[in-house]
Formats: sequence, structure tokens, C-alpha cells
Amino acid sequence: MAQIFKPAANTAATISLFGAAGGVFIAFLAGSQLTRSSFNTKVDNPINQPVPFSHQHHAIELGIDCRFCHSSVETSAKASVPSTDVCMTCHSTVWKNSPMLAPVRASEETGVPIHWNKVNDVPDFVYFDHSIHINKGVSCNTCHGKIQEMHMTAKGKTLHMTWCLDCHNDPEKYILPIPEDEMGNALEPREQVFELYRKLAAGDELTSEEHRIAEGLPNKAPDDEHHQAIKKRDIKVTQLEDCYICHR
Ligand code: HEC
Ligand code: HEC
Ligand code: HEC
Ligand code: HEC
Ligand code: HEC
Repeated sequence: MAQIFKPAANTAATISLFGAAGGVFIAFLAGSQLTRSSFNTKVDNPINQPVPFSHQHHAIELGIDCRFCHSSVETSAKASVPSTDVCMTCHSTVWKNSPMLAPVRASEETGVPIHWNKVNDVPDFVYFDHSIHINKGVSCNTCHGKIQEMHMTAKGKTLHMTWCLDCHNDPEKYILPIPEDEMGNALEPREQVFELYRKLAAGDELTSEEHRIAEGLPNKAPDDEHHQAIKKRDIKVTQLEDCYICHR
């Protein structure tokens, strides 16, 4: 094979590659210090938005299913944020003159999407996928906090690596036994996720475990039933801490 680079060029390339990698690593570390400071953690601090959208109002008081607005949450990596059309299915008739909804009407007229500020964000070098978590029955509240109380959306958890690993280490702490319907048939784990909000919306009583999940807390004491729940869902706990799972 013809030599493309002279040996000297090769060394130069190696050095510059090494240098660049070093630079990236330092930037990486500096960045990670920044993400750890409480200033940037923003847990429980509501973020300003162009329209004061309330989850308590829409998802609980009105009882609109999360999937009506976050339509890809159980099928893909991204949950997606709703387009203006979704709001206008109601707000072209309901509260149609509200000043708070002026940006929604403007977006409808101009076709320019509403710019929602991001509340939850992990760095680009982290791979995250909603669908697998929802399909194994991990509650939105376990990762996003008490959505049912949010008038303005805030980050509910740090989303730091140690936080992800706390569950990946021992998912039994956050998974409920698979519930049954009135006929005694097992529900799909993902239906369990949305059943919580249906109950909250209907004012139905929650079991003490459901209550803890709704609060964004772990189970009190994982037992054999939780252990079975992990098995029934075919959760491969032994692989969950491997670096390549989240850094591909
Ligand atoms: C009527 C539509 C609607 C429904 C129903 C809805 N959401 Fe949302 N959601 C939004 C909009 C709009 C935003 C972006 C504005 C904001 O952050 O408040 C959003 C943002 C979010 C965010 C933060 C996104 C980010 O930037 O990180 C989370 C988490 C979330 N929703 C969870 C839920 C959950 C859980 C449910 C069901 C209990 C739900 N949503 C139901 C419209 C909806
Ligand atoms: C399924 C119907 C429905 C959908 C979809 C819906 N809303 Fe609403 N929204 C309502 C109703 C009903 C009210 C208020 C009724 C009340 O306060 O009693 C409301 C109230 C509001 C208010 C408060 C208005 C005021 O003046 O107090 C805002 C802001 C709002 N919605 C934003 C949105 C946004 C943004 C979207 C899209 C992401 C959206 N809504 C989607 C039904 C809906
Ligand atoms: C295992 C933890 C976990 C669960 C469970 C979870 N989320 Fe998320 N969510 C995240 C993380 C992490 C991000 C930030 C993703 C990123 O930056 O790429 C996020 C981001 C979002 C966003 C912003 C848009 C996006 O996809 O980046 C929305 C909306 C959202 N989640 C809604 C939901 C809803 C609705 C549910 C329940 C049906 C849910 N999430 C369940 C961890 C979770
Ligand atoms: C409350 C528990 C919990 C939390 C918190 C959590 N996960 Fe998971 N994660 C799971 C479970 C359960 C699975 C499914 C494992 C299986 O099916 O074998 C999973 C699977 C994954 C997968 C594998 C996806 C695939 O397609 O193979 C990735 C990637 C992942 N999680 C990333 C993350 C990241 C990044 C975070 C933090 C931002 C996080 N998870 C937080 C419970 C959790
Ligand atoms: C369950 C998902 C997950 C797994 C598994 C995981 N990481 Fe991470 N990692 C993250 C998330 C999320 C961040 C970004 C948030 C943060 O800075 O904590 C991150 C950040 C990092 C960083 C940036 C510096 C820092 O700490 O903020 C390094 C380096 C890193 N991970 C290395 C590793 C190594 C090495 C492994 C295997 C031993 C690993 N990660 C396994 C989710 C994961």
C-alpha cells in the first residue's frame, strides 16, 4: 500500500490527536464540575416559559393523558413536546381570548413553533431512551418528580450519573409489583405508569407504595414481590451498570 503520510507527519498527527484529546478531557472535567454546582442543578426551580403551562391543571385536574402531548414517550428515545396544533385542539374554542394564550395564537398564525425552554437535559455523550424505561414500568415521577403538583415545570431530580446508577444498581427499589385489572389479568407494565395519573385525576385512593412513587420516592423495603417483578419484566440488572449502556 502506498504511504500517504511521511513518518514525521505521522508523529505530528499523533501529537496533535493526543493534544486534542487532552483538551477535550479537560473541557469535559471543567464541564462536569459546572454541572455539579447547585446553581446548575436547578432541581425544583421552575423554568420560565413563553406560556405558563400547568401540568397540575392539564394532566390532573383535566385528566389529559401524558401521551396526548408527549406522544413518542413509550415508543422512542425522546418524549417530544407537543406542537401548537395540540394546544389548539382545545384552545381554538376554550379560553380562546386568554392573554396568557396569546403566544399560542401567534404561533398558530405565523406557523413558528413555540420555543419551550428545556427543563431536563443530559449531556450529548450520554445515551438515554424513554421507551425502554416506560415499557419496563418506571414511573415518570421517579425521574421527573411530582408532576401532579407542578404549575410551572421544574426539574425533579439531578439526572447525574450517580443518580442513574442508584437505580441501575438496584431497580427493585423503584419498580412496583405488576398490578392486575378487576378480572385478575396482569396489566402491561407501561400501563401501570399511566394508571397512576388516572387515579390521581379521578381522586382514587393510592396504595402506600403508589403514594411513594407519586412522591418520587423509592419503595420502603423491596421484598420478594419486587424481586419477582424484576424477573417478570425481564430486567437484566447485571448489565445495567456497564459504561457502554449509557456511553456508546
Ligand atoms: C396538554 C399537554 C400536556 C400534557 C397532557 C402533559 N404535558 Fe408534559 N409538557 C407539555 C408542554 C407544553 C411542556 C413544555 C413546557 C413545560 O416544560 O412546562 C411539557 C413539559 C414536560 C416535561 C419537561 C420537559 C423538559 O423540557 O424537560 C416533563 C417531564 C413532562 N412534561 C411530563 C409530563 C407527564 C409525566 C405528563 C402526564 C402526567 C405530562 N407531561 C402531560 C404538555 C403536556
Ligand atoms: C383537552 C383540552 C386542552 C388541551 C389539549 C390544552 N388545554 Fe390548556 N386549558 C384547557 C382548559 C379547559 C383550561 C382552563 C379552564 C379553567 O381554568 O377552568 C386551560 C387553561 C390553560 C391556560 C390558562 C389560561 C388562563 O387564562 O388561565 C393555559 C396558559 C393553557 N391552558 C395552555 C395550554 C397549552 C400551552 C397547551 C398545549 C401544550 C394546552 N393548554 C392544551 C384545556 C386544554
Ligand atoms: C428513567 C428516567 C425517566 C423516566 C422514567 C421518564 N423520563 Fe422523561 N426525561 C428523562 C431524562 C434523563 C430526560 C433528558 C433527556 C435528554 O436530555 O436527552 C428527559 C426528558 C423528558 C422530556 C423533554 C423532551 C425529551 O424527550 O428530551 C419530556 C417531555 C419528558 N422527559 C417526559 C416524560 C414523560 C411524560 C414520562 C413518563 C411517561 C417520562 N418523561 C419518564 C428521564 C426520564
Ligand atoms: C428508576 C430506575 C431507573 C433510573 C433512574 C434510570 N434507569 Fe435506565 N434503565 C432502568 C431499567 C429498569 C432499564 C431496563 C433494563 C432491561 O430491560 O434489562 C433501563 C435501561 C436503560 C438503558 C438501556 C436501553 C437500551 O436500549 O438498551 C439505558 C441506555 C439507560 N437505562 C440509561 C439511563 C440513564 C442515562 C439514566 C439517567 C439519566 C437512567 N437510565 C436512569 C431503570 C432506570
Ligand atoms: C446509567 C447510565 C450511566 C452509566 C451506566 C454510566 N454513566 Fe457515566 N454518565 C452518565 C450521565 C447521565 C452523565 C452526565 C451527568 C453527570 O455529569 O453526572 C455521565 C457522565 C460521565 C462522565 C463525565 C464526568 C462526570 O462524572 O460528570 C464520565 C467520565 C463518565 N460518565 C464515565 C463513565 C464510566 C467510566 C462508566 C462505567 C464505569 C459510566 N460512566 C457509566 C450516565 C451513565
